[in-house]
Amino acid sequence: METNTGGLILGIESSCDETAAAVVLCGSETLSNVVASQIAIHSPYGGVVPELASREHLRNILPVVRAALREAGATYNDLDAIAVTEGPGLAGALLVGITFAKSLAFALNKPLIAVNHLEGHIHAVLLEQKMLEEQEKRKDNELSSPADRSSSAGWEAEGPALCLVVSGGHTHLYLYRQFEGAGGPSTPAASKNVGRTVDDAAGEAFDKVAKLLGLGYPGGPWIDALAPHGNPHAVPFSFAQIKAKVHRKNDPNALDPSRMTYFSFSGIKTAVLRHTQVHEMAAGIEARRAALAVISDPKPSDALPLCDQSTLDLVASFQRAVVDDLRRKTFRAAEAFGAATVLVSGGVAANRELRVRFTAEAAERGLPIAFPSLTLSTDNAAMIAAAAWPKLVARDFAPETLTAVPSLALGRG
Ligand code: KG4
Ligand code: ZN
Repeated sequence: METNTGGLILGIESSCDETAAAVVLCGSETLSNVVASQIAIHSPYGGVVPELASREHLRNILPVVRAALREAGATYNDLDAIAVTEGPGLAGALLVGITFAKSLAFALNKPLIAVNHLEGHIHAVLLEQKMLEEQEKRKDNELSSPADRSSSAGWEAEGPALCLVVSGGHTHLYLYRQFEGAGGPSTPAASKNVGRTVDDAAGEAFDKVAKLLGLGYPGGPWIDALAPHGNPHAVPFSFAQIKAKVHRKNDPNALDPSRMTYFSFSGIKTAVLRHTQVHEMAAGIEARRAALAVISDPKPSDALPLCDQSTLDLVASFQRAVVDDLRRKTFRAAEAFGAATVLVSGGVAANRELRVRFTAEAAERGLPIAFPSLTLSTDNAAMIAAAAWPKLVARDFAPETLTAVPSLALGRG
């Protein structure tokens, strides 16, 4: 197998409803990042249909990979490795990316690297942080004498990062350390899983609540756009409604809240449904659903005139309750583990209220906080290629038998 010392990695991601490919240099320089979204395909169903997702991935994978190489100005032969999402995700969807990546690696005689999708989301933040650090270093080098230059050791030197990965499929907290050697990461990162949802993921709650209110898919961006028009204190969703059931079975950490945080979002979804029933909102919801159905490619701005004040208040109160629950538990865990920084990633990290409220709390506590840019918050392949870089350095390659692992976990529990 050809193993060059360069760090040009092609990343491939197909775990859910986005077919993505990207070329990233040494885990820090994104040369291309191409995403073919399937939103239009799944939208009529209000959720991802696995069979349709696999079929679309098959259709898209080759053009998306070709576009990523073209945009990066690279050829297949320039690549040093091919990285692919191993799991977690939809089995059929993952298999399309894995089979393609394996064939490519075999044909080109290049190493294949398997990446956990959740570690990818963490690297979506690290990738941009590294880019910023490198820009800072370049600026320092230009502006100062060698003696004045700050040793840009980064947050890793201070302690672990507490990472909230919050998306349509996941709500996890990880304690994350990455050890940097002089020439880049010398050891793969260590992650410890210190929090998870016991039922729905937060993004799933956004999607389900949007669906039951007759809004579009995926629901997060719709609720995000409509919430500022409502009163977040109008409907008092108590935290008790989103408190975790006690899931102690087979979990030695479950009795100690300082070691494990639980989220639960199925209760608030039911509470929203109950609210619509008690306040007889069904007719308004159906009218909105019907009005949006005849608009081609409807946007949240189309829904605004179709929402009365009580609907907007409900949306705002729902979002505030979810964001507050995520914020409270994330910072409590950061404190319990002495985290030096907080990272938030995954589709829900795109939420504007979440960003504002997390940033304010981090400032109050004097903790650095980082989010990925909006493009890297949702699923993409740049994060997969970035997560593969420490593995390339450590020569941690995937076996020829690599296959999809739909419920792949990240980190020790
Ligand atoms: O990371 P992602 O693209 O895919 C998964 O790994 O699940 O996340 C998609 C999820 C969806 O549930 C979507 O509604 C949610 O992220 N999302 C948002 C926002 N943008 C996307 N949720 C709240 N506010 C947003 N602005
Ligand atoms: Zn994801």
